[in-house]
Amino acid sequence: VAVHVLNGPNLNLLGTREPGTYGSVTLADVEERLKARAAAAGVDLTFRQTNFEGELVTHIQQAGLAGAGIVINAGAYTHTSVAIRDAIKGVDALAIELHVSNVHAREEFRHHSYMAPVCVGVICGFGAAGYDLAFDAIVPLLQKRAA
Ligand code: DQA
Repeated sequence: VAVHVLNGPNLNLLGTREPGTYGSVTLADVEERLKARAAAAGVDLTFRQTNFEGELVTHIQQAGLAGAGIVINAGAYTHTSVAIRDAIKGVDALAIELHVSNVHAREEFRHHSYMAPVCVGVICGFGAAGYDLAFDAIVPLLQKRAA
């Protein structure tokens, strides 16, 4: 099975950006950890980050059309982007929405997600460890789907 971990705007700054909210683990650290996890599980992992909404849409389409599962931290686009929701739905992707911070404990505008209804589930508030949790959650779902 294959998993694409897709990261949206400002996640390239993870580790240095608002460390009180997002912690000190960098996206490179997350990628390294997930690569080891994927290798151990025999999963084909693609790890990407972009600051551009349309590029995120393209990455979602590519993952979905390849039959890969998606773990997506869309950053602020979570709260604004109908295009990202439509991409997930449009390629019928099996996706998990992820946030490093607990968006529900933050500003009101972070409480709504356009993509949550088209995702299997949402993981938020566990810091960078959320990426590992999402990976562990999506692999059995993909294995089940492939069986
Ligand atoms: C975030 C939460 C979003 O509200 C915010 O815009 C981000 C990061 C998170 O991982 O906690 O950029 O997705």
